[in-house]
Formats: sequence, structure tokens, C-alpha cells
Amino acid sequence: MARISASVYTSHVPAIGAAMDLGKDHEPYWQPLFAGYEPSKQWLKDNKPDVIFLVFNDHATAFSLDMIPTFAIGTAAEYQPADEGWGPRPVPKVVGHPELASHIAQSVIQQDFDLTIVNKMDVDHGLTVPLSLMCGKLDPKEGAWPCPVIPFAVNVVQYPVPSGKRCFQLGQAIRRAVESFDQPLNVQIWGTGGMSHQLQGARAGLINKEWDNRFLDRLIADPAGLAEVSHIEYVREAGSEGIELVMWLIARGAMADVAGGPAPTLKHRFFHVPASNTAVGHLILEN
Ligand code: DHB
Ligand code: FE
Repeated sequence: MARISASVYTSHVPAIGAAMDLGKDHEPYWQPLFAGYEPSKQWLKDNKPDVIFLVFNDHATAFSLDMIPTFAIGTAAEYQPADEGWGPRPVPKVVGHPELASHIAQSVIQQDFDLTIVNKMDVDHGLTVPLSLMCGKLDPKEGAWPCPVIPFAVNVVQYPVPSGKRCFQLGQAIRRAVESFDQPLNVQIWGTGGMSHQLQGARAGLINKEWDNRFLDRLIADPAGLAEVSHIEYVREAGSEGIELVMWLIARGAMADVAGGPAPTLKHRFFHVPASNTAVGHLILEN
């Protein structure tokens, strides 16, 4: 059977992708940020999964106000990097895993979560920046991401957005789905977006280091309690775009301890301010 071996959590700031693509990663502004991901790149090389289930949000790139799925699972064979206004990022295409994705869709929908099935989708910085941070710079033609990726898009852009509690429950359903897949695949689940940031309105530029670090503490040690945090607290404390953090609870809900297993091992923790308008947080937890 397939199993979830680890979860990875990371911010997805688009300027990080631009800094990598334009070769600015050694500049003084960016160097401390990329230094924080050096252990992670090594960890991923040492712990290469068969599939990454990547929870992310689309930023009105693949979806628009025409169509707003709350939870959408990518079942396609491949996904192209999206053009976000400056051309597509020069990164490899994303290869999917239609067989496992279709199985997870079947299982999770039968567990009463109404997923949208997506057979065609371009992927924006929400998905490509976490991959770049964890895998380093790759040639768009010669290079390839280390394994197939199942994109799982969550609406955290257009209100109403799902609650942290719902996301945490969904992660538990995804774990059961993976564990009922009849192939011995090593699956990692990644939760991305966040941390505190607000890109708009009177509080644009808001960053709340204390709240972010408390979020990291609780994600590690008290995920069920953290899942009770209300939507309004995210917006008040972490800014309007800080709500992206509910996606981390999907990945956390899929870890073994939530289903009665042993507590995960913390392999890496990193927090850095600022990156563009955003606080960057990052964790690696192993089952
Ligand atoms: C920024 C952060 C985001 O999460 C995003 O999607 C776009 C921009 C920023 O910090 O500039
Ligand atoms: Fe974002």
C-alpha cells in the first residue's frame, strides 16, 4: 500500500521564484533566505518520494471569478507553468500521477468531501516556487522535478474560503485515501502559502512574527487545537493573505499522529522576514 512518509510546509512568495530565475539568489537581500533552504534541498535528495501531493493555491491564474472551486484535485498527466504576466517561469513542466490522483479523488469524495476534478490546468507560483525552493534551480528543458506531483488547489483568494478545521479534516481523508492505494508508493504531502502577509488595503505590508512563530509551534505540537483558529483570527493577526496558512493544516492532518500514530519528527524549521511583502516559514516533519 502507499504511505505518507513526510510533510513539508513552505511559503510561496513569487519574488523568490523571480530571484532564482534572474540569478539574484546570492544578493545580500536573498542570501539568508536561500541559506535556510539548503538543508531542505539535501533532505529532499536523501528522502526522494515517489509522488508529491502538493497543496497550493492558484492566484486567479488557472481559475478566475468565472469559476471558483474550493478544493480541486489535478488528475492530468502534466501541467505547464503559467504565464503570470511576465511569461511562464523558466522551470520544467510538472508531471502528474493520474492513477493515484484519480484514486484519491474517488476515496476522498466517497468520504464526503466534494472535490472538483481538474484534467487541464496551468500552475502558477503557488506550486512552482515551493518546488524551486526544495529542488533548486533546474533547466526548463533538460531538467525535471524529482518525481510526479499531484496538484491540489484550495481557494484562499476569493471569499468565502474554507475553515482551518475543514482543511485539517480533509488532510485526514487524504491520508486514508493514500493508504488505500494498492501500490507501495512513498508519498510526501506539502502544505504551502503564508505566512503572515497582506498585499492590499490600509494594512498592506502587515507581518506578525510572533503570531507566525506560535503558528509553527502549534502546527508541530498541537495541530488539532490550531485547526480551531477562526477565519477572522487569520485575517486579523496574519493579514488578508495570511489565510493561505489554512492549507498547511491539510498536510498536517495527513500525518500519522492525527490518526493515533507516533508524533512526527521535526527535521527542519526556518523563519525569515522579509521576502517581498511576506514572512517566510518552513517546516519538514517526518512520520
Ligand atoms: C506576494 C505574496 C504572495 O503570497 C503572493 O501570492 C503574491 C505576492 C508578495 O509578498 O509580494
Ligand atoms: Fe500567495
